[in-house]
Amino acid sequence: MKRLSHKTCVITGAGRGIGAAISHAFAAEGAKVIVTDIDLQSATDVATKIGGTAYQLDVASEDGWAQLSRHHPQIDVLVNNAGITGFEQGMVPHDPEHASLADWRAVHAVNSDGTFLGCRYAIGAMRKSGAGSIINISSRSGMIGIPAAAAYAASKAAVRNHTKTVALYCAQEGLNIRCNSIHPAAVLTPMWEPMLGDGPDREKRTEAIVADTPMRRFGDPSEVAAIAVMLASDEAAYMTGAELTIDGGILAGSAASPSRE
Ligand SMILES: NC(=O)c1ccc[n+]([C@@H]2O[C@H](COP(=O)([O-])OP(=O)(O)OC[C@H]3O[C@@H](n4cnc5c(N)ncnc54)[C@H](O)[C@@H]3O)[C@@H](O)[C@H]2O)c1
Repeated sequence: MKRLSHKTCVITGAGRGIGAAISHAFAAEGAKVIVTDIDLQSATDVATKIGGTAYQLDVASEDGWAQLSRHHPQIDVLVNNAGITGFEQGMVPHDPEHASLADWRAVHAVNSDGTFLGCRYAIGAMRKSGAGSIINISSRSGMIGIPAAAAYAASKAAVRNHTKTVALYCAQEGLNIRCNSIHPAAVLTPMWEPMLGDGPDREKRTEAIVADTPMRRFGDPSEVAAIAVMLASDEAAYMTGAELTIDGGILAGSAASPSRE
């Protein structure tokens, strides 16, 4: 029997990158996958490849979630994966001194509000069976400060903390709904494009990130998807409120440590 047979799974921001990889991995494990994205065309492309259902959802829209709950009132797994850095339209200032309030709010609307709305929908949709798994894609940036990406880091910290609140709330309610967070870093997806750029410095920027990663490579979206499969499956039956880092070792240590030389 496959690991996610008979499970209906909603994945947000699943038209590309990590969300698309999770969709592929879930389908390979027998799940019925609802591939959602703000960009319907990309969701449709993924859904067609995996035999899933495409659905257009802007995670920042409360009305969008209300409509989803009418279309899919009962689910087993939700992956709150959709997220933005704030650099999608180009590199604007996102440090704590120069970030605009509008840019700060735009990132929070997708990353934090989107995750809050997703969890609220999922609890309602899982309450009917009394069980389920909510997986929130946070980031290593939710655990440390990022001077050049203040809103992103703060919003991912909110995702990390809200995961634990949801986990405890569901347990208090006597529901077997688990909620856990995944904290990736340096996973090569289109999200990195504006930050790497396409100019002559692209290679230098790429090398700098690889050099800062103990495993000396970018992660692959399929490696994050493998963790999501485990959390979605019944193998993780006693895991809730947990945070799993998948970052090639970045958060395992500190740069200011004694060297052997
Ligand atoms: N790639 C990394 O290194 C990395 C590291 C840490 C955390 N993450 C997190 O993983 C998740 C996926 O990242 P990715 O690298 O695949 O990004 P990506 O930019 O490649 O893909 C993000 C997807 O989300 C969709 N999206 C954007 N705004 C949306 C909205 N309002 N509603 C619904 N969908 C929306 C986009 O259309 C896109 O398909 C994000 O939450 C991101 O913050 C990624």
